Formats: sequence, C-alpha cells, structure tokens
Amino acid sequence: MKTVQEFSSMKLAGKKISVATCYDHWSALILDESDVDAVLVGDSAAMVMHGFDTTINAELEMMSYHVAAVKRGLRNKFLIADLPFLAHKKGLAFLTNAVDTLMKAGAQAVKLEGAEGNIESIKHLVSAGVPIMGHLGLTPQSIHQLGGNKLQGNDASSSERILKDAQSLEEAGCFAIVLEMVPATLAKTITETLAIPTIGIGAGNHTSGQVLVLQDLLGCSKDFNPKFLRKYLDGFSLIKSALNAYSADVKEQKFPSEKESY
Ligand code: KIV
Repeated sequence: MKTVQEFSSMKLAGKKISVATCYDHWSALILDESDVDAVLVGDSAAMVMHGFDTTINAELEMMSYHVAAVKRGLRNKFLIADLPFLAHKKGLAFLTNAVDTLMKAGAQAVKLEGAEGNIESIKHLVSAGVPIMGHLGLTPQSIHQLGGNKLQGNDASSSERILKDAQSLEEAGCFAIVLEMVPATLAKTITETLAIPTIGIGAGNHTSGQVLVLQDLLGCSKDFNPKFLRKYLDGFSLIKSALNAYSADVKEQKFPSEKESY
C-alpha cells in the first residue's frame, strides 16, 4: 500500500499518481488488484449511489457506511474519505468526531473542500496525526454558490486566489490537493509552486496525478459527458447487453442448463 510519503516521492520523481473513487465492496475488490495508486470514497456517493442531484446529501452515516464497505475489500490501497457537507463548519468537536468515525470505518486520510475558514481545523487534524487532502477549484459542496459545475480560476483574481489557497493548504499541512475544473495552466503553476502533489480532475495533465469517478471512467454514467472525462469502457451498454442476454436465456428456457442444475 502506498503511503503519503510515497505520494510525495512520486511527485519528486515525476511519477504520476492515479486515483479512482469507490463506494462499495465488489468494486473495491477489483480496484485492490488494479494498478490504481489510491482510492477515494467521495461524497459523490450521494449522486452515484443514491441518485441525489448534488453531493450536499452525503451524510456522515452514509459516508462511513461506504468507507466500511470499501475497506472490507481493500487491502493494498491507500483509502481517502470525503468529509461530508458542513462537517467542518459545525465546530471542532463535531469535526473531530466525524474524522474519528471515518477513520475508524477504515479511511487512512480525509479530504475536505476549500481553504478559507478551514486552516485552523486542518492544522488541528494534522497535529492529531490525520493526513488531510485539500480540494480547490470547483468544490461541489458549494455548487449553489458557484452557480453550477463551472470552470473555476479562469480570470486573474480567481486564479490568484486559488493559488494562494493552495499555498495556505500546504502550509496547514495537507499532504495533497485535488484541483477540480481549473485551467491546465493554473493547475501547472500550482503544481510547480507546491511541494505536495496535486491531483487533477478537469485540470489538464500537468498535475501530479488524476482522479476520476469509477462509474464515469467505466462509462456507466450514460448522460455524464464532460469534456474532461475519458470513458475506458462502455460499461452502460456492456452491462445492459449482459442483462438482456440473461433475460432472453431465462425466457427461452436456456438458463439454467442441465450442467447448471442439481
Ligand atoms: O466526491 C468525489 O468524487 C470527489 C472527486 C471527484 C475528486 O471529490
């Protein structure tokens, strides 16, 4: 299993870091045997697994349930869990308890969105031995404030602010930062400015690594087709064809065969 120190060495050595999300046990077993470097139980679980429109509906109970299911299938991968909406805004006791819950469920690190107002909380967690991953650019928990899933940091003042936020997250002790939906040039500047790795999603290919939602990269999310996404499988069609083949076999009494019967 890779450690936070190894992610840092990978950046130094110019080796890219691959991260994928995961929310359940059976895909954790597959990811565990893959070459992917780290696994994120993202709060995108609320959308992908539960059908909500945003990540705002991810609750601590939901997140720890998914972390525990993933952890039971994961032996060889570093596991990061998202801190759910507002968990870092309800006071230090609530935050500490939330992180405690996620780490006891099996997470080895916690990701939280944004920098402003979070620096003291991050320092508190880092001083307690918790590896923290930052998240800047498009921060989906602020979707209503941002006015949708839009590119961030595409003018001088907002790109300057994201760069400053990245520096303060590094100073606070984050071991890595996710950069979501920012121009490739900005992600490159941030990556070159910071010592810690940057993990991009919709941030071009100069970051220290990439993260994608598992169902997106497997082509299971049929109607989600942003410019940044590469689908490595037509999962939706392949799974649908398999289901149709099964259904046809049942209806035509081809399944189960004699060999498949007792
Ligand atoms: O929740 C999530 O899946 C994420 C990644 C897309 C970075 O935060």
